Amino acid sequence: MRKIKFEYKLAFSYLLLGGIWIIFSDKLLSSIIYDIRVLTEIQIFKGWFYVIVTAILFFLFIKNHLTKLRDTEIELEHHKNHLEKMIQEKTNDLESKNEELFRKNEIINQKNTELKNTLVCLQDTQSHLFQAEKMASLGILTAGVAHELNNPLNYIMGAYVGLFRHYENKTFSENDEQVGILIDSLKVGVERSVSIVEGLNQFTRNSQSYHEECNLHEIINNSLNILQNQLSNNISIHKQYANSEIIIKGNVGNLHQVFVNILNNSIQAILNEGSITISTKLDDDYVHIEIKDTGEGISAENIEKVADPFFTTKEPGKGTGLGLAITYNIIKKHNGILEFQSDLGKGTMVKIKFPK
Ligand SMILES: Nc1ncnc2c1ncn2[C@@H]1O[C@H](COP(=O)(O)OP(=O)(O)OP(=O)(O)O)[C@@H](O)[C@H]1O
Ligand SMILES: [Mg+2]
Repeated sequence: MRKIKFEYKLAFSYLLLGGIWIIFSDKLLSSIIYDIRVLTEIQIFKGWFYVIVTAILFFLFIKNHLTKLRDTEIELEHHKNHLEKMIQEKTNDLESKNEELFRKNEIINQKNTELKNTLVCLQDTQSHLFQAEKMASLGILTAGVAHELNNPLNYIMGAYVGLFRHYENKTFSENDEQVGILIDSLKVGVERSVSIVEGLNQFTRNSQSYHEECNLHEIINNSLNILQNQLSNNISIHKQYANSEIIIKGNVGNLHQVFVNILNNSIQAILNEGSITISTKLDDDYVHIEIKDTGEGISAENIEKVADPFFTTKEPGKGTGLGLAITYNIIKKHNGILEFQSDLGKGTMVKIKFPK
């Protein structure tokens, strides 16, 4: 059954009670009072009584309801304040958690960057270690060879000096004229051998200084000497050197490594027959060195990666992928620039620029 609303019930009860009151009180009064004047006065009093009682009842009723309403309102306000406080607390809590998360995120990002840097450093150190190891064993080998060669060279030089003195003041007969020429070529040969041995020693010298006088033409020539055994007859070397000597400040041993690595790559890139052209020139501010080969070339995809540590296209055992990474670092330490241009199948040009 549908519930009847309170205000309808109230109105209905008021009408019903009022009706019953009027009917029964009228009937009761008319049955006991016969004087019409007295009856009229009692009726007026009854009317007033009814109005006052209903007014008091209404007043009490409305007061009671209004008090309840006001209490409810106060309670609601209280709940609202409490809710607002709770929401504010939660918001503050969330904000501080958010800030904490943000801080943690920043720390993670920082750690991430540190890790990446450490990784790059590790790769760098690893490549330096590899190269140092390679250089150390090469150094022991070449120092040994140079030492072993020094003794016989001293003998030959001594023999040359003896021979020279022996024939110095003599006039040669027609048959002996050849002797003078032979003694001179002996001298040229010995001097050349001595300079190769010196070059080998320079290559493996282990100095940390970047203020040494570096004669670039000498260093390139030494590097070619070192690689002599790898240069087959099928590879021709063309030198287009600047007319004057080129001296820059740097580290002699490290610059030898630069040219040995670059020239070695060119030699390895020439599979059958080809040429390597080395040119040097000077302008007002820079020294330019270009090493151009007619080897197999580098693909556009790989050219960006050639100086990355451990990047190699050579089969295992043939290349470590460190040559150009080391070369790049050394050139950077000399404030220089290293660039590559290549045509796949046609050849590669390596450009180096050093400040004067
Ligand atoms: N002149 C060149 N012609 C063709 N490819 C080259 C040349 N120079 C470098 N490259 C390419 O760059 C790669 C990296 O050269 P890098 O000298 O660093 O290492 P590698 O020669 O492979 O090994 P290694 O550590 O023994 O030098 C080579 O594997 C090769 O693919
Ligand atoms: Mg190499």
